[in-house]
Amino acid sequence: MAKYIINGGARLEGSVAVECAKNAYLPILASTILCEHGDITLYKAPRFTDVINMCAILERLGIAVKHENGVLRINAESANARFVPVEVAKLLRSSIFTLGALLGRFKRARVAYPGGCDIGLRPIDIHLKGLKDMGVKITESHGILNCDATALHGGTITLDFASVGATENLVLCAVLGRERVVIQNCAREPEIVDMCNFLNKMGARIYGAGTDSIEIEPVSRLVGTEYTPIGDRIIAGTYLIAAAITHGEIEVSGVNPAIFASLIDKLRVSGCLLRVKSDKIYLKSPKTLKSVGLIETQVYPGFPTDLQAQLLTLETVSRGSCVVHENIFESRFKFVPELIKMGARVRVRGLSAFVDGVEGLSGAEVYAKDLRGGASLVLAGLCANGYTIVNDIFHIERGYQDLDIRLNELGADIRREAGA
Ligand code: EPZ
Repeated sequence: MAKYIINGGARLEGSVAVECAKNAYLPILASTILCEHGDITLYKAPRFTDVINMCAILERLGIAVKHENGVLRINAESANARFVPVEVAKLLRSSIFTLGALLGRFKRARVAYPGGCDIGLRPIDIHLKGLKDMGVKITESHGILNCDATALHGGTITLDFASVGATENLVLCAVLGRERVVIQNCAREPEIVDMCNFLNKMGARIYGAGTDSIEIEPVSRLVGTEYTPIGDRIIAGTYLIAAAITHGEIEVSGVNPAIFASLIDKLRVSGCLLRVKSDKIYLKSPKTLKSVGLIETQVYPGFPTDLQAQLLTLETVSRGSCVVHENIFESRFKFVPELIKMGARVRVRGLSAFVDGVEGLSGAEVYAKDLRGGASLVLAGLCANGYTIVNDIFHIERGYQDLDIRLNELGADIRREAGA
């Protein structure tokens, strides 16, 4: 398995442009299933493993996908399959979005249960309840969801929890429906807004994305368009914390600071100087970082669970103590035992972690367990004394492109060693 070898201690400085958001690109790729007329061009396609795997799923459905120098040219007119088998569905969580899109277009679908980061049970009960409330008939056998939406109808669906994926799935199912659908208590993440903007550019009629109530007026067809998804706020936050933890300075571009203001606020509390413009953030880290005291992950616009591990890592070398409550996923502290190997002082009790800052970390051999926890081990290695080996970086490469190359450009000493 490939690994990163990091010689810690270098101060990061320079600028980096972030890729398009993984969590916007994935539902947007699923959305292309709905388009029966014309070509779709998606720009700045990131080479994340999850994006590559989602494209592979589209091809299995008979959709033409061409990747030329970061541009994806897609034509879904030839889509002819309605089955997503386990061997591809298990590769990523977002495979479940194909269910809503296939039902929206073909009114029938068979999709295996999804995969994704092992950060909790990750059930899909909210997805399935919402689809059933829209009239979809669902039976399950051998891990496959057999769905029939020939009796699809409209109405108001209220989600038990503001699930990002469930919100996206129900929108995808409703776009080409027969009757108006209103989804209440839906998620408000910017990536959902981006998916809806893309669908509306193809002719959908979706209103209220970004609020807790989304209304979908059905249309009969979607027509191909071209689109560039928004920048990845989680990657942007990861680079800001990389500069903060190495007492460096950085300018991150390609993302609207307003969509991750909660992190920017925390970094200011830690003593970092931050200046923000429309699509740029400048950060200068102090000689001594202060603990932010409390991190509580929430649905958007609260502090994002996808930046919890990265900020907790910063807290391990900040002056003071910090309490971290992970309110979204039930198993998102798997990286903590690896940080403790590096000298971090963290105690985990259930969904909370208690961090006491230390003077510094020391390099060690550690193992990535999931995407964001793995990226956090890289952050720890950047500031640690000596060498850190981060194993199983396939987890990290699901959502970061050329992380070693980018960090070296900023002054880090990190190299990628291919697996045996
Ligand atoms: C999306 O996952 C993101 N993934 C995750 O990013 C992100 O952490 C999460 O939203 C929360 O913001 C993509 O967009 C591809 P949820 P998703 O449904 O849709 C529970 C990353 O690192 N739940 O909002 O799976 C669930 O178990 C990834 O980029 C149910 O109980 O998140 C969790 O506890 C990780 N039943 C909570 O809700 C359901 O049917 C939030 O899940 C659905 C979800």
